[in-house]
Amino acid sequence: MRIDIAISGDHVSPDLVRGKTVIVIDTLRATTVIITSLVNGAKSVVPVTTVEEGLGIMKRMENVVLGGERKSMKIDGFDFSNSPREYTREVISGKNLILTTTNGTKAISKSKDGTRILIGALVNAKAVARKACGYTEDIIIVNAGTDGRFSMDDFITGGALIEEILAMRNADLTDISKTALMTYRNHKDIRSYVKEAAHFRILEDLGLQDDIDFCLQKDIFAIVPEFDHGVIKLPEGQISLL
Ligand code: MLT
Repeated sequence: MRIDIAISGDHVSPDLVRGKTVIVIDTLRATTVIITSLVNGAKSVVPVTTVEEGLGIMKRMENVVLGGERKSMKIDGFDFSNSPREYTREVISGKNLILTTTNGTKAISKSKDGTRILIGALVNAKAVARKACGYTEDIIIVNAGTDGRFSMDDFITGGALIEEILAMRNADLTDISKTALMTYRNHKDIRSYVKEAAHFRILEDLGLQDDIDFCLQKDIFAIVPEFDHGVIKLPEGQISLL
C-alpha cells in the first residue's frame, strides 16, 4: 500500500484518485463540521461548491438546513455558519445539512472519482486511519488547503493519520507523506505548529478561538463518514452519538 498527499482540491484530478481510497481533510473547519453533524444525528450532509447549487438542492429535499461560510463567516440567509460548535444534537438531529465552504466542500467534490471517499479530521484521526487500513487500495489524502495553496493545519493532520496507519500496517510513503509524518512526529503538540498557519490567524482574528480548540482535539469521535453519489453519510452500523 502506498500513501500520497494532495495539498489542495485544485491539485486533484480524476486520475490521481481513481482506484484509491481517498481521505479528505479540512481540519479548520469543514470536515470537522461534517463529522460533528453526523455524530450529533444529522441524516446526511450534502457538500456543494456554490450557494446557488445549495439553494437548488434545498428545493428538492425535505428536512433541510443550510450551513457554510464565505471568508469564514456565515452566509446571508443560511441557518448555520462553519462552526462545528453550532451543530449540536438539538439543532441537527434528523436533518439533512447542505454545506458549502470555500475549500473543504470543493475538495470533496473534486475527489468523487476515488474508489471510496472517507471524511477525516483530527477529531476522528484514528478511526479514519483504521478504516482506510481495512482496504487493499493505495491511499491518497486530499487536503482542502486554502485557495489552492498548501495549508499547515491539513498537512499535520495528514501526518497524524499516517502515524496511525503505520501503527496498524506497513505502507510505502511518497516524499510529501514522509514530510507530513516527520512534521507530526516533531510537533505532537499540534497547536504549537498550527498556530503558525495563515488560517489559524484568520479564525483567531474573527474571535473563533473556541472553534480552533474544538477542531484540534484528536480522536474525540470514532465515526467515519463516507461520500458517495453526492451525499455524505455514516455507513450502516455506525452509530451517530458516542
Ligand atoms: C473552508 O472550507 O475553506 C474552511 O472550512 C474555511 C473555514 O474555516 O470556515
